Amino acid sequence: MPDTFRIGLLGHGTVGAAFAELLEERADAIAAITGIRPVLSGVLTRSRGEFTALLDDSDLIVEVMGGIEPARSHALAAMRAGRHVVSANKLLLSQHGEELWAQARESGVQLRFEGAVAGVVPVIRVLQESLAGAHVERIHGIVNGTTNYILSEMRRSGASYADALRQAQELGYAEADPTDDVTGRDAAAKMAILARLAFSTPVSIDQVTYEGIEQITADDMAHADELGLGLKLIGTAERVEGGISVRVHPAFLYGGHPLASVDGPFNAVTIEAPAITEITLSGPGAGGPQTASAVLGDVISAMIPPASTPETIDSLPIVADVVSAFYLHMEVEDRPGVLARIAEILGESGASIRSVVQHGMGDNARLVMVMHPITESSFYAGVERIAQLPFLRSRPRAIRVIDEEFM
Ligand SMILES: NC(=O)c1ccc[n+]([C@@H]2O[C@H](COP(=O)([O-])OP(=O)(O)OC[C@H]3O[C@@H](n4cnc5c(N)ncnc54)[C@H](OP(=O)(O)O)[C@@H]3O)[C@@H](O)[C@H]2O)c1
Repeated sequence: MPDTFRIGLLGHGTVGAAFAELLEERADAIAAITGIRPVLSGVLTRSRGEFTALLDDSDLIVEVMGGIEPARSHALAAMRAGRHVVSANKLLLSQHGEELWAQARESGVQLRFEGAVAGVVPVIRVLQESLAGAHVERIHGIVNGTTNYILSEMRRSGASYADALRQAQELGYAEADPTDDVTGRDAAAKMAILARLAFSTPVSIDQVTYEGIEQITADDMAHADELGLGLKLIGTAERVEGGISVRVHPAFLYGGHPLASVDGPFNAVTIEAPAITEITLSGPGAGGPQTASAVLGDVISAMIPPASTPETIDSLPIVADVVSAFYLHMEVEDRPGVLARIAEILGESGASIRSVVQHGMGDNARLVMVMHPITESSFYAGVERIAQLPFLRSRPRAIRVIDEEFM
Protein backbone atom coordinates (compact mmCIF):
# COMPACT_ATOMS: atom_id res chain seq x y z
CA MET A 1 0.00 0.00 0.00
CA PRO A 2 1.42 3.43 -0.91
CA ASP A 3 1.71 6.18 1.74
CA THR A 4 -1.20 8.59 1.90
CA PHE A 5 -1.11 12.36 1.50
CA ARG A 6 -4.02 14.12 3.22
CA ILE A 7 -5.73 17.10 1.59
CA GLY A 8 -7.96 19.51 3.53
CA LEU A 9 -10.43 21.28 1.22
CA LEU A 10 -11.61 24.83 2.05
CA GLY A 11 -14.68 25.47 -0.11
CA HIS A 12 -16.99 23.02 -1.88
CA GLY A 13 -18.57 25.19 -4.57
CA THR A 14 -17.98 25.16 -8.34
CA VAL A 15 -14.24 24.47 -8.09
CA GLY A 16 -14.17 22.65 -4.71
CA ALA A 17 -16.82 20.08 -5.64
CA ALA A 18 -15.17 19.46 -9.02
CA PHE A 19 -11.80 19.06 -7.26
CA ALA A 20 -13.18 16.49 -4.78
CA GLU A 21 -14.65 14.49 -7.67
CA LEU A 22 -11.48 14.67 -9.78
CA LEU A 23 -9.30 13.68 -6.82
CA GLU A 24 -11.30 10.52 -6.25
CA GLU A 25 -11.28 9.71 -9.96
CA ARG A 26 -7.49 10.22 -10.34
CA ALA A 27 -6.22 8.92 -6.94
CA ASP A 28 -5.21 5.45 -8.24
CA ALA A 29 -3.33 6.86 -11.20
CA ILE A 30 -1.52 9.42 -9.00
CA ALA A 31 -0.61 6.70 -6.50
CA ALA A 32 0.76 4.55 -9.32
CA ILE A 33 2.95 7.41 -10.61
CA THR A 34 4.13 8.95 -7.34
CA GLY A 35 3.91 6.07 -4.87
CA ILE A 36 1.78 8.35 -2.65
CA ARG A 37 -2.02 8.23 -2.55
CA PRO A 38 -3.80 11.61 -2.19
CA VAL A 39 -6.92 11.44 -0.02
CA LEU A 40 -9.47 14.04 1.03
CA SER A 41 -9.18 14.47 4.80
CA GLY A 42 -12.17 16.81 5.15
CA VAL A 43 -14.11 19.76 3.79
CA LEU A 44 -14.87 23.21 5.20
CA THR A 45 -17.85 25.27 4.01
CA ARG A 46 -20.09 27.80 5.77
CA SER A 47 -22.26 24.95 7.06
CA ARG A 48 -19.82 22.08 7.69
CA GLY A 49 -16.33 21.39 9.00
CA GLU A 50 -14.05 23.11 11.51
CA PHE A 51 -10.77 24.66 10.36
CA THR A 52 -8.39 23.70 13.22
CA ALA A 53 -9.50 20.07 13.22
CA LEU A 54 -9.20 19.95 9.42
CA LEU A 55 -5.70 21.45 9.55
CA ASP A 56 -4.57 18.87 12.12
CA ASP A 57 -5.72 16.10 9.79
CA SER A 58 -4.10 17.49 6.60
CA ASP A 59 -0.69 17.58 4.90
CA LEU A 60 -1.83 20.20 2.43
CA ILE A 61 -4.66 22.75 2.32
CA VAL A 62 -6.56 23.55 -0.90
CA GLU A 63 -8.19 26.97 -0.62
CA VAL A 64 -11.06 27.41 -3.11
CA MET A 65 -13.46 29.40 -0.95
CA GLY A 66 -12.72 32.79 -2.59
CA GLY A 67 -12.76 36.28 -1.05
CA ILE A 68 -10.19 37.70 1.37
CA GLU A 69 -11.29 36.57 4.83
CA PRO A 70 -11.24 33.93 6.17
CA ALA A 71 -9.26 32.61 3.15
CA ARG A 72 -6.21 34.77 4.03
CA SER A 73 -6.12 33.82 7.73
CA HIS A 74 -6.61 30.13 6.96
CA ALA A 75 -3.86 30.11 4.32
CA LEU A 76 -1.43 31.90 6.68
CA ALA A 77 -2.31 29.59 9.59
CA ALA A 78 -1.87 26.51 7.41
CA MET A 79 1.60 27.61 6.28
CA ARG A 80 2.64 28.57 9.83
CA ALA A 81 1.66 25.03 10.79
CA GLY A 82 3.98 23.68 8.06
CA ARG A 83 1.33 22.77 5.49
CA HIS A 84 1.62 23.43 1.77
CA VAL A 85 -1.20 25.59 0.38
CA VAL A 86 -2.78 25.46 -3.09
CA SER A 87 -5.17 28.28 -3.96
CA ALA A 88 -7.16 29.43 -6.99
CA ASN A 89 -7.98 32.77 -5.34
CA LYS A 90 -6.79 35.60 -7.63
CA LEU A 91 -8.29 38.31 -5.41
CA LEU A 92 -6.37 37.09 -2.37
CA LEU A 93 -3.05 36.75 -4.22
CA SER A 94 -3.37 40.10 -5.99
CA GLN A 95 -4.01 41.89 -2.67
CA HIS A 96 -2.01 39.89 -0.12
CA GLY A 97 0.48 37.98 -2.27
CA GLU A 98 3.61 39.40 -0.62
CA GLU A 99 2.40 38.50 2.87
CA LEU A 100 1.51 34.98 1.74
CA TRP A 101 4.75 34.36 -0.19
CA ALA A 102 6.78 35.67 2.74
CA GLN A 103 5.01 33.23 5.06
CA ALA A 104 5.61 30.35 2.62
CA ARG A 105 9.34 31.18 2.54
CA GLU A 106 9.54 31.55 6.33
CA SER A 107 7.71 28.26 6.91
CA GLY A 108 9.57 26.40 4.15
CA VAL A 109 6.34 25.27 2.48
CA GLN A 110 4.91 25.65 -1.01
CA LEU A 111 2.22 28.12 -2.03
CA ARG A 112 0.92 27.19 -5.47
CA PHE A 113 -1.76 29.03 -7.44
CA GLU A 114 -1.94 27.89 -11.08
CA GLY A 115 -5.76 27.97 -11.02
CA ALA A 116 -5.81 31.66 -10.04
CA VAL A 117 -4.84 32.93 -13.51
CA ALA A 118 -6.31 31.77 -16.81
CA GLY A 119 -7.88 28.60 -15.36
CA VAL A 120 -6.17 25.52 -16.70
CA VAL A 121 -3.71 27.41 -18.97
CA PRO A 122 -0.35 26.68 -17.27
CA VAL A 123 1.00 30.22 -17.35
CA ILE A 124 2.17 30.40 -13.71
CA ARG A 125 4.28 27.27 -14.06
CA VAL A 126 5.74 28.50 -17.35
CA LEU A 127 6.72 31.88 -15.87
CA GLN A 128 8.13 30.39 -12.65
CA GLU A 129 9.85 27.37 -14.12
CA SER A 130 10.19 27.11 -17.91
CA LEU A 131 10.96 30.83 -18.39
CA ALA A 132 12.80 31.37 -15.10
CA GLY A 133 15.94 32.16 -17.14
CA ALA A 134 14.27 34.52 -19.63
CA HIS A 135 14.16 38.30 -19.25
CA VAL A 136 10.44 38.86 -19.82
CA GLU A 137 9.76 42.18 -21.53
CA ARG A 138 6.03 42.04 -22.00
CA ILE A 139 2.93 39.94 -21.35
CA HIS A 140 -0.35 40.40 -23.16
CA GLY A 141 -3.29 38.35 -21.96
CA ILE A 142 -6.91 37.61 -22.61
CA VAL A 143 -7.45 36.54 -19.01
CA ASN A 144 -11.20 36.96 -18.64
CA GLY A 145 -13.37 34.48 -20.53
CA THR A 146 -16.65 36.31 -19.88
CA THR A 147 -15.60 39.50 -21.68
CA ASN A 148 -13.91 37.56 -24.47
CA TYR A 149 -17.13 35.66 -25.06
CA ILE A 150 -19.17 38.89 -25.12
CA LEU A 151 -16.81 40.66 -27.56
CA SER A 152 -16.57 37.57 -29.80
CA GLU A 153 -20.36 37.34 -29.92
CA MET A 154 -20.75 41.05 -30.70
CA ARG A 155 -18.35 40.65 -33.61
CA ARG A 156 -19.84 37.38 -34.88
CA SER A 157 -23.52 38.33 -34.82
CA GLY A 158 -23.53 42.14 -34.65
CA ALA A 159 -25.27 41.89 -31.24
CA SER A 160 -25.29 44.87 -28.87
CA TYR A 161 -23.24 44.72 -25.67
CA ALA A 162 -26.42 44.25 -23.57
CA ASP A 163 -27.68 41.35 -25.75
CA ALA A 164 -24.30 39.61 -25.80
CA LEU A 165 -24.03 39.95 -22.00
CA ARG A 166 -27.52 38.45 -21.56
CA GLN A 167 -26.55 35.54 -23.80
CA ALA A 168 -23.33 34.98 -21.81
CA GLN A 169 -25.40 34.84 -18.61
CA GLU A 170 -27.84 32.33 -20.14
CA LEU A 171 -24.94 30.08 -21.17
CA GLY A 172 -23.27 30.31 -17.75
CA TYR A 173 -20.24 32.26 -19.04
CA ALA A 174 -21.21 35.33 -16.97
CA GLU A 175 -22.35 35.62 -13.35
CA ALA A 176 -25.72 37.15 -12.44
CA ASP A 177 -23.64 40.10 -11.20
CA PRO A 178 -20.98 40.47 -13.92
CA THR A 179 -19.42 43.69 -12.53
CA ASP A 180 -15.94 42.34 -11.74
CA ASP A 181 -15.66 40.79 -15.20
CA VAL A 182 -17.04 43.58 -17.41
CA THR A 183 -15.26 46.41 -15.57
CA GLY A 184 -11.88 44.69 -16.06
CA ARG A 185 -11.27 44.22 -12.30
CA ASP A 186 -11.05 40.42 -12.50
CA ALA A 187 -8.49 40.70 -15.31
CA ALA A 188 -6.60 43.37 -13.33
CA ALA A 189 -6.16 40.96 -10.40
CA LYS A 190 -4.75 38.30 -12.73
CA MET A 191 -2.40 40.75 -14.47
CA ALA A 192 -1.07 41.90 -11.08
CA ILE A 193 -0.13 38.28 -10.32
CA LEU A 194 1.50 37.73 -13.73
CA ALA A 195 3.44 41.02 -13.50
CA ARG A 196 4.68 40.11 -10.02
CA LEU A 197 6.07 36.81 -11.31
CA ALA A 198 7.41 38.12 -14.62
CA PHE A 199 9.28 41.11 -13.20
CA SER A 200 10.04 39.89 -9.62
CA THR A 201 8.77 43.19 -8.23
CA PRO A 202 5.82 43.72 -5.89
CA VAL A 203 2.59 44.47 -7.81
CA SER A 204 -0.84 44.64 -6.22
CA ILE A 205 -4.23 45.09 -7.87
CA ASP A 206 -4.34 48.75 -6.66
CA GLN A 207 -1.46 49.54 -9.02
CA VAL A 208 -3.21 48.15 -12.09
CA THR A 209 -5.25 50.65 -14.12
CA TYR A 210 -8.25 49.06 -15.73
CA GLU A 211 -11.11 49.87 -18.11
CA GLY A 212 -13.93 47.50 -19.01
CA ILE A 213 -15.98 46.76 -22.10
CA GLU A 214 -19.31 48.40 -21.16
CA GLN A 215 -18.80 51.29 -23.62
CA ILE A 216 -18.03 49.10 -26.65
CA THR A 217 -20.68 49.32 -29.37
CA ALA A 218 -21.64 47.08 -32.30
CA ASP A 219 -20.48 49.99 -34.50
CA ASP A 220 -16.94 49.73 -33.11
CA MET A 221 -16.92 46.09 -34.16
CA ALA A 222 -18.13 46.88 -37.69
CA HIS A 223 -15.53 49.64 -38.17
CA ALA A 224 -12.82 47.41 -36.75
CA ASP A 225 -13.65 44.78 -39.35
CA GLU A 226 -13.27 47.35 -42.11
CA LEU A 227 -9.86 48.34 -40.75
CA GLY A 228 -8.77 44.69 -40.43
CA LEU A 229 -8.82 44.80 -36.62
CA GLY A 230 -10.29 42.60 -33.89
CA LEU A 231 -11.34 43.96 -30.49
CA LYS A 232 -10.37 42.21 -27.22
CA LEU A 233 -10.12 43.05 -23.52
CA ILE A 234 -6.35 42.90 -23.14
CA GLY A 235 -4.24 42.80 -20.00
CA THR A 236 -0.73 44.16 -20.49
CA ALA A 237 2.28 43.95 -18.20
CA GLU A 238 5.46 45.42 -19.67
CA ARG A 239 8.78 47.04 -18.89
CA VAL A 240 8.81 50.74 -19.76
CA GLU A 241 11.44 53.42 -19.09
CA GLY A 242 13.09 51.70 -16.14
CA GLY A 243 9.75 50.79 -14.59
CA ILE A 244 6.73 48.70 -15.45
CA SER A 245 3.20 49.34 -16.63
CA VAL A 246 0.36 46.98 -15.76
CA ARG A 247 -3.05 47.72 -17.22
CA VAL A 248 -6.25 46.27 -18.62
CA HIS A 249 -8.34 47.89 -21.35
CA PRO A 250 -10.15 47.11 -24.58
CA ALA A 251 -7.67 47.08 -27.47
CA PHE A 252 -7.73 46.45 -31.18
CA LEU A 253 -5.38 43.85 -32.61
CA TYR A 254 -4.28 43.22 -36.17
CA GLY A 255 -4.95 39.73 -37.53
CA GLY A 256 -1.32 38.57 -37.18
CA HIS A 257 -1.27 38.95 -33.40
CA PRO A 258 -1.52 35.56 -31.65
CA LEU A 259 -4.38 36.80 -29.45
CA ALA A 260 -6.47 38.01 -32.41
CA SER A 261 -7.86 34.54 -33.13
CA VAL A 262 -8.70 33.64 -29.50
CA ASP A 263 -12.51 33.63 -29.44
CA GLY A 264 -15.34 32.69 -27.11
CA PRO A 265 -14.73 31.97 -23.40
CA PHE A 266 -11.10 30.96 -24.04
CA ASN A 267 -8.10 32.63 -22.36
CA ALA A 268 -4.62 33.12 -23.83
CA VAL A 269 -1.39 34.70 -22.67
CA THR A 270 1.46 35.87 -24.89
CA ILE A 271 4.88 36.21 -23.25
CA GLU A 272 7.67 38.13 -24.98
CA ALA A 273 11.37 37.95 -24.09
CA PRO A 274 14.45 38.52 -26.27
CA ALA A 275 15.65 34.92 -26.02
CA ILE A 276 12.32 33.31 -26.88
CA THR A 277 10.73 35.96 -29.20
CA GLU A 278 7.17 35.08 -28.21
CA ILE A 279 5.17 32.16 -26.86
CA THR A 280 1.42 31.94 -26.54
CA LEU A 281 -0.48 29.64 -24.20
CA SER A 282 -4.22 29.25 -24.59
CA GLY A 283 -7.11 27.17 -23.32
CA PRO A 284 -10.25 27.23 -21.15
CA GLY A 285 -9.98 30.14 -18.70
CA ALA A 286 -12.49 29.01 -16.10
CA GLY A 287 -15.03 26.33 -15.18
CA GLY A 288 -15.16 23.91 -12.25
CA PRO A 289 -13.54 20.80 -13.81
CA GLN A 290 -10.96 22.85 -15.71
CA THR A 291 -9.83 24.86 -12.68
CA ALA A 292 -9.94 21.71 -10.53
CA SER A 293 -7.50 20.11 -12.97
CA ALA A 294 -5.04 23.01 -12.47
CA VAL A 295 -5.49 22.75 -8.67
CA LEU A 296 -4.84 19.00 -8.71
CA GLY A 297 -1.72 19.56 -10.82
CA ASP A 298 -0.46 21.91 -8.10
CA VAL A 299 -1.28 19.37 -5.38
CA ILE A 300 0.73 16.68 -7.17
CA SER A 301 3.67 19.07 -7.61
CA ALA A 302 3.58 19.86 -3.89
CA MET A 303 3.54 16.13 -3.08
CA ILE A 304 6.82 15.78 -4.94
CA PRO A 305 9.02 18.67 -3.69
CA PRO A 306 10.85 20.93 -4.14
CA ALA A 307 9.58 24.07 -5.90
CA SER A 308 10.72 27.59 -5.19
CA THR A 309 8.64 30.36 -3.67
CA PRO A 310 9.35 33.56 -5.56
CA GLU A 311 11.13 36.39 -3.81
CA THR A 312 11.02 39.96 -5.13
CA ILE A 313 14.44 41.03 -6.41
CA ASP A 314 13.47 44.45 -7.71
CA SER A 315 11.42 47.47 -6.74
CA LEU A 316 10.40 48.89 -10.09
CA PRO A 317 8.29 52.05 -10.35
CA ILE A 318 4.87 51.85 -12.01
CA VAL A 319 4.94 54.08 -15.11
CA ALA A 320 1.61 55.80 -15.76
CA ASP A 321 2.08 57.40 -19.20
CA VAL A 322 2.86 54.79 -21.84
CA VAL A 323 3.03 54.74 -25.63
CA SER A 324 0.13 53.21 -27.54
CA ALA A 325 -1.49 53.25 -30.97
CA PHE A 326 -5.14 54.34 -30.99
CA TYR A 327 -8.43 53.97 -32.81
CA LEU A 328 -10.37 57.24 -32.80
CA HIS A 329 -14.10 57.40 -33.56
CA MET A 330 -15.76 60.76 -34.30
CA GLU A 331 -19.15 61.93 -35.54
CA VAL A 332 -18.83 65.31 -37.27
CA GLU A 333 -20.76 67.76 -39.42
CA ASP A 334 -20.09 66.87 -43.07
CA ARG A 335 -18.56 70.06 -44.45
CA PRO A 336 -15.25 71.08 -46.08
CA GLY A 337 -12.26 71.61 -43.82
CA VAL A 338 -13.41 69.32 -40.99
CA LEU A 339 -10.95 66.49 -41.65
CA ALA A 340 -8.13 69.00 -42.22
CA ARG A 341 -8.79 70.74 -38.87
CA ILE A 342 -8.86 67.43 -36.98
CA ALA A 343 -5.66 66.29 -38.71
CA GLU A 344 -4.06 69.63 -37.80
CA ILE A 345 -4.87 69.24 -34.09
CA LEU A 346 -3.67 65.66 -34.09
CA GLY A 347 -0.45 66.78 -35.81
CA GLU A 348 0.09 69.50 -33.20
CA SER A 349 -0.34 66.84 -30.49
CA GLY A 350 2.33 64.70 -32.13
CA ALA A 351 -0.13 62.08 -33.41
CA SER A 352 0.18 60.73 -36.92
CA ILE A 353 -2.64 59.00 -38.76
CA ARG A 354 -2.13 55.44 -40.00
CA SER A 355 -5.53 54.91 -41.70
CA VAL A 356 -8.89 56.68 -42.04
CA VAL A 357 -12.39 55.48 -42.93
CA GLN A 358 -15.19 58.00 -43.58
CA HIS A 359 -18.93 57.23 -43.82
CA GLY A 360 -21.61 59.76 -44.82
CA MET A 361 -24.69 59.95 -42.52
CA GLY A 362 -26.88 62.65 -44.14
CA ASP A 363 -25.59 66.05 -42.98
CA ASN A 364 -23.10 64.32 -40.71
CA ALA A 365 -20.17 61.97 -41.27
CA ARG A 366 -18.49 59.32 -39.18
CA LEU A 367 -14.70 59.44 -39.15
CA VAL A 368 -12.75 56.45 -37.88
CA MET A 369 -8.98 56.70 -37.69
CA VAL A 370 -6.14 54.49 -36.54
CA MET A 371 -3.17 56.43 -35.17
CA HIS A 372 0.50 55.45 -35.04
CA PRO A 373 1.90 54.97 -31.48
CA ILE A 374 2.03 58.11 -29.31
CA THR A 375 2.21 58.76 -25.55
CA GLU A 376 -1.26 58.45 -24.04
CA SER A 377 -1.17 61.90 -22.37
CA SER A 378 -0.31 63.68 -25.67
CA PHE A 379 -2.99 61.79 -27.54
CA TYR A 380 -5.74 62.41 -24.97
CA ALA A 381 -4.78 66.12 -24.82
CA GLY A 382 -5.37 66.26 -28.60
CA VAL A 383 -8.66 64.35 -28.29
CA GLU A 384 -9.82 66.82 -25.63
CA ARG A 385 -9.14 69.72 -28.04
CA ILE A 386 -11.03 67.91 -30.83
CA ALA A 387 -13.96 67.34 -28.43
CA GLN A 388 -14.31 71.15 -28.11
CA LEU A 389 -14.61 71.76 -31.91
CA PRO A 390 -18.00 73.19 -32.91
CA PHE A 391 -18.58 70.67 -35.73
CA LEU A 392 -18.31 67.60 -33.42
CA ARG A 393 -21.69 65.87 -33.05
CA SER A 394 -20.76 63.68 -30.04
CA ARG A 395 -17.72 63.10 -27.85
CA PRO A 396 -14.88 61.39 -29.72
CA ARG A 397 -14.14 57.87 -28.49
CA ALA A 398 -10.66 56.37 -28.33
CA ILE A 399 -9.64 52.72 -27.94
CA ARG A 400 -6.05 51.51 -27.87
CA VAL A 401 -4.62 49.40 -30.71
CA ILE A 402 -1.92 46.80 -30.13
CA ASP A 403 0.02 47.13 -33.35
CA GLU A 404 2.39 44.19 -33.04
CA GLU A 405 2.06 41.28 -35.39
CA PHE A 406 4.19 38.15 -35.14
CA MET A 407 4.27 36.85 -38.70
N1 LIG B 1 -15.53 29.16 -10.79
C1 LIG B 1 -14.49 29.19 -11.62
O1 LIG B 1 -14.60 28.86 -12.80
C2 LIG B 1 -13.14 29.64 -11.10
C3 LIG B 1 -12.04 29.65 -11.98
C4 LIG B 1 -10.78 30.05 -11.49
C5 LIG B 1 -10.64 30.42 -10.17
N2 LIG B 1 -11.73 30.43 -9.35
C6 LIG B 1 -11.53 30.83 -7.95
O2 LIG B 1 -11.80 29.71 -7.11
C7 LIG B 1 -12.36 30.15 -5.88
C8 LIG B 1 -13.70 29.47 -5.65
O3 LIG B 1 -14.58 29.79 -6.69
P1 LIG B 1 -15.98 29.01 -6.87
O4 LIG B 1 -16.53 29.47 -8.17
O5 LIG B 1 -15.80 27.55 -6.63
O6 LIG B 1 -16.84 29.65 -5.67
P2 LIG B 1 -18.23 29.15 -5.09
O7 LIG B 1 -18.92 28.23 -6.05
O8 LIG B 1 -18.96 30.34 -4.61
O9 LIG B 1 -17.82 28.25 -3.81
C9 LIG B 1 -17.24 28.82 -2.66
C10 LIG B 1 -17.18 27.77 -1.59
O10 LIG B 1 -16.46 28.31 -0.49
C11 LIG B 1 -17.27 28.24 0.68
N3 LIG B 1 -17.09 29.45 1.49
C12 LIG B 1 -17.16 30.74 1.07
N4 LIG B 1 -16.99 31.58 2.12
C13 LIG B 1 -16.81 30.79 3.20
C14 LIG B 1 -16.59 31.05 4.58
N5 LIG B 1 -16.53 32.31 5.04
N6 LIG B 1 -16.44 30.01 5.42
C15 LIG B 1 -16.51 28.73 4.97
N7 LIG B 1 -16.74 28.42 3.67
C16 LIG B 1 -16.88 29.44 2.81
C17 LIG B 1 -18.70 28.16 0.21
O11 LIG B 1 -19.44 27.55 1.23
P3 LIG B 1 -21.03 27.28 1.12
O12 LIG B 1 -21.13 26.11 0.19
O13 LIG B 1 -21.43 26.96 2.50
O14 LIG B 1 -21.60 28.56 0.57
C18 LIG B 1 -18.54 27.32 -1.06
O15 LIG B 1 -18.53 25.95 -0.76
C19 LIG B 1 -12.45 31.70 -5.99
O16 LIG B 1 -11.31 32.27 -5.42
C20 LIG B 1 -12.47 31.93 -7.49
O17 LIG B 1 -11.95 33.21 -7.84
C21 LIG B 1 -12.97 30.04 -9.78
